[in-house]
Amino acid sequence: MSRYSSIVVLTGAGISAESGIQTFRGAGGLWAGHDIEEVATFEAYARNPKKVLEFYNDRRSELSRTGIEPNAAHLALAEFEHEHAGEFLLVTQNVDNLHERAGSRQPLHMHGELDKVRCQRCYEIYPSREELALTTQCPWCMTAGRVRPHIVWFGEMPFHMEEIHERLARCDLFVSIGTSGNVYPAAGFVEIAHQRGIPTVELNLEPSLGESLFRDRRYGPATEIVPEFFARLRND
Ligand code: OAD
Repeated sequence: MSRYSSIVVLTGAGISAESGIQTFRGAGGLWAGHDIEEVATFEAYARNPKKVLEFYNDRRSELSRTGIEPNAAHLALAEFEHEHAGEFLLVTQNVDNLHERAGSRQPLHMHGELDKVRCQRCYEIYPSREELALTTQCPWCMTAGRVRPHIVWFGEMPFHMEEIHERLARCDLFVSIGTSGNVYPAAGFVEIAHQRGIPTVELNLEPSLGESLFRDRRYGPATEIVPEFFARLRND
């Protein structure tokens, strides 16, 4: 049984890479082929909504592609969570649904979810896999053309920040998995944990930007190092 009473785990695109979902940065990353300013800001959406909706329609349809399944790293996290007696909070920057599909109880999606959309007129958030178009009608207020992906764009406020900060203030272990540490506020979570003097762990393919703030660092593919780490943590 792990001795930690409250654990916070942060995940990023690297945990889903071996499931076949593109990461964002680096050669072959999503941002190498698409300009953030044209597809991932509210200004881009205001200027050219069709282009932004199509970009996210593509991301959504990727999720339903055959072969996109949770991998050993997602499964190891879910299994650990179910067995762990103390608090366990999974915070993800990912907009895919692989943590849920692996059995994680209630991952907090700080950057939103591809599986949901929201109406900018009545603010209703609802599950939807349908392709969004300029004519899409909100089933709640019946307004057309105001339904957008439930995604946090650059310059927008991430979700669940209050709950995340509450847990960061009392956790006794912080683990970061598969994130490059480029995007705040998530990139700053390790600073909070480090300042509190609690153990901090980085599991990634390569050192992230916040590397020096992690007490324990393990580098390799998530499907290998994540199951290994959590198996050991169970008996720690
Ligand atoms: P990045 O694409 O910036 O970083 C992914 C990290 O995963 C890199 O450090 C890779 O080395 C690592 N990685 C790649 N393959 C891996 C593997 N098989 N096993 C382990 N690690 C691997 O993705 P994020 O840090 O998640 O936000 O990006 C943060 C945010 O920036 C995203 O949520 C998104 C993006 O712009 C929004 O769209 C708002």
